[in-house]
Amino acid sequence: MTRIPLVGGNWKMHLDGQGAAALASDISRSSGSIEGEVELAIFPPHPYLSMVSAAIGGSGVHLGGQDVSDEPSGAFTGQVSTSMLIDCGCSITLIGHSERRHGLGEQDELLARKVRIALDGGLRVLLCVGETLEERDQGRTFDTVIGQVRGSLDAVTLDDMSRVELAYEPVWAIGTGRTAGPAEAQEVHAALRSELCSRYDARSAARIRILYGGSVKPANAAELMACEDIDGALVGGASLQAESFLDIARATARRE
Ligand code: 13P
Repeated sequence: MTRIPLVGGNWKMHLDGQGAAALASDISRSSGSIEGEVELAIFPPHPYLSMVSAAIGGSGVHLGGQDVSDEPSGAFTGQVSTSMLIDCGCSITLIGHSERRHGLGEQDELLARKVRIALDGGLRVLLCVGETLEERDQGRTFDTVIGQVRGSLDAVTLDDMSRVELAYEPVWAIGTGRTAGPAEAQEVHAALRSELCSRYDARSAARIRILYGGSVKPANAAELMACEDIDGALVGGASLQAESFLDIARATARRE
């Protein structure tokens, strides 16, 4: 089954409003040349979502939240709900990024509730998983990421799977300049797909996109994206400039 790759730009807590709108315009303006070959999504800081939504207009670039609340509404200071993200033009949200799992201590049980409420409210979900360096060194990479998938997709049915994507982001590769080698990444992606196959079915496992993230740059994108089970990239630092983000998207679109 051919999977159209997805390249996401996670802007984290970078940029100001003007910079975010300008970056979104630059990306959207150039996105037409790779339309149909790769999908693009950008994940700006929450306060800039509406501005960025206006800047991307009808270009086809998807807009996403970096996180979502596990509650629908109410007295939850600082949180942002699924319906708020949709109101601001989002069609997708990240859930379980390592800066929330490891940085803020979010556990699978909470993440499973976020996944459920986002899907129920009409968003697509890009669920992030990844092992720490310690877990890798102890030979626990597969157990860790498969455990995260099982825990975070606890309440997700086969029907829901058409709106779920995964991102494998080894924690030790995020923002460090150190990437997993293509073979190292491919074996984790293949293990994740095989888990999806046993948990759901072969058809949905073959359809779901599994993105790689962690120090993806224009220089290393092509070799990673050439791997059979790597269906795109979730990019941090290199997504903050339109040219490097688009170069990664072009390298992804060209994969065989
Ligand atoms: P870097 O590309 O800066 O390593 O960040 C990866 C990431 O966390 C994307 O979500």
